[in-house]
Order: sequence, then C-alpha cells, then structure tokens
Amino acid sequence: DIYQVFIEADRYKMFLDGLKVTIGVSIAAVLLGILLGMVLALMKMTEVRKGKKTIFSVVANIYIDIIRGTPTVVQLLIIYFLVFQTQMGMVAGIVTFGINSSAYVAEIIRAGIMAVDKGQMEAGRSLGLSYTETMRYIILPQAVKNILPALGNEFIVLIKETAILGYVAIQDLTKASDFIVSRTYIMFVPLIGCALIYYVLVKILTIGLNAFERRLRQSDIR
Ligand code: ARG
Repeated sequence: DIYQVFIEADRYKMFLDGLKVTIGVSIAAVLLGILLGMVLALMKMTEVRKGKKTIFSVVANIYIDIIRGTPTVVQLLIIYFLVFQTQMGMVAGIVTFGINSSAYVAEIIRAGIMAVDKGQMEAGRSLGLSYTETMRYIILPQAVKNILPALGNEFIVLIKETAILGYVAIQDLTKASDFIVSRTYIMFVPLIGCALIYYVLVKILTIGLNAFERRLRQSDIR
C-alpha cells in the first residue's frame, strides 16, 4: 500500500508539495491577518478613547461583522472567482485567509487590551503620562500576555482551515491526499497520513505555545 500510494509515480512529492503549500499559505496568511488585525483593532479602539462611535470604529465593526458572519469557504470562492477571476490561486488563498483571520485577530487584540484593569490607565494618567504613553509603557506590555497565546491558537485554527484550499484548485496537503485516493483507490493510507501530518503540525505548535505561556506567567503571582 505504502508503495502504491506514495512511492509509485513519485506521489510522495505531490504529498510533500501539498504540505509546503499548506504551511506556506498558513504562514503568509497569519502574518497578513496580524497586520490587518492590528489596524482593525486600532480602528475599533478609537471608540474606547473617544467614548463614542467613530467613523473608524463603525467601519471596523461592519468589516468584522461580515467576515465573522460568513463561512470561510464562501469567502474563498468569492475572492478567487469574483475578485481574482481565477487568476493567481495561491495569492487569492493567502488574501482570503489573511482577511478572514484579521477579523478574529482584531477581536483578540482588542479583548487583550480591554482585559488589562482600567486602574492601570488611571494610575498612568495620574502619574502624568499621556494616554499614548500609558498605552505604550503600561497597558500594552501587559496586554501582550493575553494576546500572544490567543494568536497562537488563531494560527492553529488557520492551518486546519486551509484544508478548504482544494475548493479553488490549489493542491494543499488535503487536496493532494484526496487526489492520491482518487488515483490509487486506496483510502486509508493517504487520508490517515494527511490527518497525522496536520496533527503533528498542530501538536508542535501547541507544545511550543504552552511552553511560551508558562514563561509569560512566571511573573504572575496567582
Ligand atoms: N470554519 C469556520 C468558518 O468557516 C471558522 C473559521 C474560523 N477562522 C479563524 N480564522 N478563526 O467560519
């Protein structure tokens, strides 16, 4: 089975190429997602500072509402067929997952900042720091502890979500496995192999993330 599935006709290359696509799209998308997410979070936070809705917060809220309210697969189909007109599939995939992830990242960043006790802002301001200085030197360093672990989780979700890339003819790990099944009529080896690889990817990230979280907690006496 292993011979027929992976070695015959060099199918392991297809499998490995698929893995590269999965990892590549995930990394590019998570970076794009963090970048866009930070902008969106800033836009949303203008509301907190002003104490009322702003044009930025309204736009950011509508964007996040739409992205989180529609399935990622549908977003992928829309961006690939309508926006990219079936050109540059890989870029369309990265853009889709980047946009999709940004809505979740924005909420992660906003929630991470809001979770810092409001007394921290009051303390900073009463010591004579400006709003921006208090944010920069007091709030954000504490917020990072809430934000980074959640971003790690977002990356894990994203990696698994890229399994839908096959919808737009991109040969990611899942699509490559599916293709091998259709050629060999052997289902067990490619599908379980595919699942195992995702599992290992996620496991590596989870272990790294847990170690990192433990390190971040060292200064917390709780
Ligand atoms: N699969 C779900 C959807 O289609 C969840 C996507 C979650 N995405 C994320 N980047 N956290 O909407």
